[in-house]
Amino acid sequence: MNFRGSSIKPVDLDLSKIPKHIAIIMDGNGRWAKKRLLNRIKGHEKGAETVKTVVRVCQEIGIAYLTLFAFSTENWQRPKNEVMALMSLLKKFIVEEQQSLMDKDILLNAIGELEKLPQDVLEVLMKTINRTQNNQGMQINLALSYGGRDEIVQMVRQIAGKVHSGAMKPESISMEVVSDHLYTQGIPDPDLLIRTSGEIRISNFLLWQIAYSEICVTETLWPDFGEDEFLAIIKNYQARERRFGKV
Ligand code: IPE
Ligand code: IPE
Ligand code: MG
Repeated sequence: MNFRGSSIKPVDLDLSKIPKHIAIIMDGNGRWAKKRLLNRIKGHEKGAETVKTVVRVCQEIGIAYLTLFAFSTENWQRPKNEVMALMSLLKKFIVEEQQSLMDKDILLNAIGELEKLPQDVLEVLMKTINRTQNNQGMQINLALSYGGRDEIVQMVRQIAGKVHSGAMKPESISMEVVSDHLYTQGIPDPDLLIRTSGEIRISNFLLWQIAYSEICVTETLWPDFGEDEFLAIIKNYQARERRFGKV
């Protein structure tokens, strides 16, 4: 699908059908840079600008939760210089956006194996998360060193530990109990999952949570993704009939 070139305005949306939670696989930074004979890092820098646009639009139309796949458990296997550049970009982004998150009443949250992040990144991240924790507006979940399978493994470990200690009975393990032991506990499942840059795959993102999410893949590379296309995707989502297995 490609929604570029449409000129949907926020007023064209059905306000009674605004998705509560949008999750995005922000892909294509490297290809964006390659097309311009630039270093991949330049693509990541440009991609960070797209994040700001998407956050602004989400706030304008009243999205409650925005989950952004920023770095996967598999991304640690990229060349060391790219990993380091991504980490310093992440740190810079958090530091620079901290005040803006406060001004916009946005709560920042992070999901993933955060302890794997470099100490200095983890520090600014936790500081910002703590500073924004009482904000009442939109919630942003940054998926960092995040993997859906890793999340499931840590959930199983936690629940197995409780069963082992006698704190929980096997027969009381329900879907709610599973959800409550994921990194996303307390967050409703995504209504809409968007992936940019055309790859039709999940790449280990939110495996449990996207069971019934509407999926939209656009060819647009993440640094080229913008307001008009984002609104067109939400408009397309609103036209879909979500049946959840019923008739
Ligand atoms: C997404 O862009 C950003 C991260 C995965 C960190 P990529 O870096 O994967 O860009 P492509 O897929 O190589 O174009
Ligand atoms: C998924 O993109 C991870 C993020 C967007 C952070 P990748 O570029 O890592 O995924 P693959 O390699 O195309 O599956
Ligand atoms: Mg990629």
